[in-house]
Amino acid sequence: MATVVVVGTQWGDEGKGKVTDYLAAKADIVVRYQGGNNAGHTVVVGEEVFRLHLIPSGILYPDKICVIGNGVVIDPAVLLQELDALAARGVPTARLVISERAHVILPYHRYLDELEEDRKGAGKIGTTRRGIGPAYVDKVGRVGIRMVDLLDPEVLRQKIRQNLEDKNRLFTRVFGAAPLDAEAVIRDYEHYAGRLAPLATDVSLLLNEAIEQGKNILFEGAQGTLLDVDHGTYPYVTSSNPTAAAAALGAGIGPTKIDRVVGVVKAYTTRVGEGPFPTELQGEMGDQIRERGGEYGTTTGRPRRCGWLDAAIVRYAARINGLDYLAVTKLDVLTGLDVVRICRAYRYRGQLLTDFPASLGVLAEVEPVYDELPGWKQDISGVRRYEDLPPQAKDYLERITELTGVPVALVGVGTRRSQMLARYDIFG
Ligand code: IMP
Repeated sequence: MATVVVVGTQWGDEGKGKVTDYLAAKADIVVRYQGGNNAGHTVVVGEEVFRLHLIPSGILYPDKICVIGNGVVIDPAVLLQELDALAARGVPTARLVISERAHVILPYHRYLDELEEDRKGAGKIGTTRRGIGPAYVDKVGRVGIRMVDLLDPEVLRQKIRQNLEDKNRLFTRVFGAAPLDAEAVIRDYEHYAGRLAPLATDVSLLLNEAIEQGKNILFEGAQGTLLDVDHGTYPYVTSSNPTAAAAALGAGIGPTKIDRVVGVVKAYTTRVGEGPFPTELQGEMGDQIRERGGEYGTTTGRPRRCGWLDAAIVRYAARINGLDYLAVTKLDVLTGLDVVRICRAYRYRGQLLTDFPASLGVLAEVEPVYDELPGWKQDISGVRRYEDLPPQAKDYLERITELTGVPVALVGVGTRRSQMLARYDIFG
């Protein structure tokens, strides 16, 4: 019986959806604790491909309780679309609950995300334009609207009117853009409230009781360590904390209640959006990895920038998250290469840097120091036991452990549930 947090160790898109889907088989409850519909998980079940943005991937099992914690920002229209799409495909969704304390994304957040990104021009963050940043700004600025407000028509109307009065001044006077109509927003959100009311609950209470009862709980982080607003490549980050400690805050459990943390590492590195990326591969090799790995955003469809695995990043993620295990995904994408490279450290103005720097100026200038290992040619997508991987693939995984100090517990060799090789029982 355990509580396990799954986090991304890179810039998101590590394949956390598949790892949480795999681990969810043993969980009673699956929890999202931060982010919003900027995230995107692709999960393949049998012949079916599911793309989820807000709802925990545990929903694809018939018996798991799925929880959206207070740390998540919820776009009600997106949540309802996702629920309807799942129901239309015969997936029961009655086991979803959402925190009364979760903040709500409103149309003015999306609008502001667009206006700010457009205004920044070349200096843009490259956000998903889903209103995530502005919603978190309002949360911290104490003018956010929470699920519990959504359920009280009087409070909802008053807050939307007040907020839009302020936001409309910003839209018209600072951005020279059109204002939004408060009454139209109120009508839409009253409708959403009616549908979402039965799902809202005290998530902290539910989870703490479940922990008392010895249930297995899986906390599913969105994005990744380098997109963390505190520990990531600021300002090219998201506006929440995807790192493990946030699971406690974003779900209402104490930090002492977290038993284990698993870091998901893609066998190479990808990034969407702007910002420095030391091991980025320009040209043919980068294109080859992008095509073979299907590296296009689940949420925005943008091509992802691709590069070699950066162990300096994963080592940093191990420290920030207190990782117990690694889950290495998409190892099959590297099959067929003559050599594979892992960045072990950086060189900066003649000096060796082994720790991930805070300064983006430094990060933009560093040169990766690579270990070069022989590749493997055999197709590994049919391998079902770690021991049966080609020796070169095992050497690659062992080198990752040497460079990060964290054992590899899971290895992904394809998109299907059966294509996950397990060396340790993470809930055991
Ligand atoms: P935002 O979260 O939409 O504000 O975007 C901020 C940054 O985080 C941008 O670089 C996005 O591309 C990135 N980002 C947000 N969510 C994800 C994700 O789920 N995977 C990868 N990148 C993401």
